[in-house]
Amino acid sequence: MLSCPTVEKRVIRGHYDVSTPFYRLLWGPHIHHGLWEADETPRQAQLQLTERLATLAGISVGQNMVDIGCGMGASSIHLVKSRGCHSLGVTISPLQKAWATTSARWQGVAKRVTFRCADAEKLELPVESQDVVWSVECTEHLFDKPAFFRRAASWLKPGGAMAICAWLADDTSVPERAQQVHDVCEGFFCPSLGTADDYAHWMDQAGLRIEARLDWTTRVTRTWEICADRVRRSRVRWLAHCVGYDSVLFLDRFDTILNAYRSGAMQYGCFVARKPRAT
Ligand SMILES: C[S@@+](CC[C@H](N)C(=O)[O-])C[C@H]1O[C@@H](n2cnc3c(N)ncnc32)[C@H](O)[C@@H]1O
Repeated sequence: MLSCPTVEKRVIRGHYDVSTPFYRLLWGPHIHHGLWEADETPRQAQLQLTERLATLAGISVGQNMVDIGCGMGASSIHLVKSRGCHSLGVTISPLQKAWATTSARWQGVAKRVTFRCADAEKLELPVESQDVVWSVECTEHLFDKPAFFRRAASWLKPGGAMAICAWLADDTSVPERAQQVHDVCEGFFCPSLGTADDYAHWMDQAGLRIEARLDWTTRVTRTWEICADRVRRSRVRWLAHCVGYDSVLFLDRFDTILNAYRSGAMQYGCFVARKPRAT
């Protein structure tokens, strides 16, 4: 695991409160990578990532899921529509909670998806209450990742699935690559990035059985080529400059993450792990 001790939780919250409109402008309602098979549009690639993970987790009609770090609620809203499940989305950002709630009402699914503003590291849910714990690109922001996995596993019913996509540290053996991962952590407000082995270990230690452990790096990297290009061709940097230094820093780090994927310093990982049924 590679740590970046300067990141603070209040800064993460502030970042999502301020930057959510930028994400929406640049990338749409999903704040996660696209998963490409061929020449899909970014929107199709984003939905493809969501659908692929949902299929691996086996999300089906009537199931309860909790979406940790739900952003603008797009994954939860999509899944309640496409899979007929129920979702509780959790975000540390009050602005995102309001945005997601409004979107769910607007799209007519407010009875099946609700949103809560809470810190996932303090969230209390009843033991064995969830069929699925879903978290796409949020665990990077957590300070005590092993503790989160232990608590999240306790929320799962026997047979329930944990579905995770995460930015991973990979080869940080040379200083230049370690610096790339550090710069990504600093620019995107991640107190640490775990390796694929770290994630597998945390899930295993939480009593879960790993069913899928996939490296999607080459299939998601195009995300940053497109975003960096959109920043160059739009006035979004000027807008970010008006908002403040942190927002500009985050736009400037789009090339850093692209280079970190290309150099092998970082990976993009997908994990599905299941809680064993009682014997
Ligand atoms: C990169 S965005 C991913 C959003 C969403 N999963 C998606 O795929 O569109 C990261 C999300 O994690 C949330 N987050 C970060 N730290 C959190 C915490 N401690 N508790 C709850 N949410 C958190 C942010 O508010 C944001 O919604």
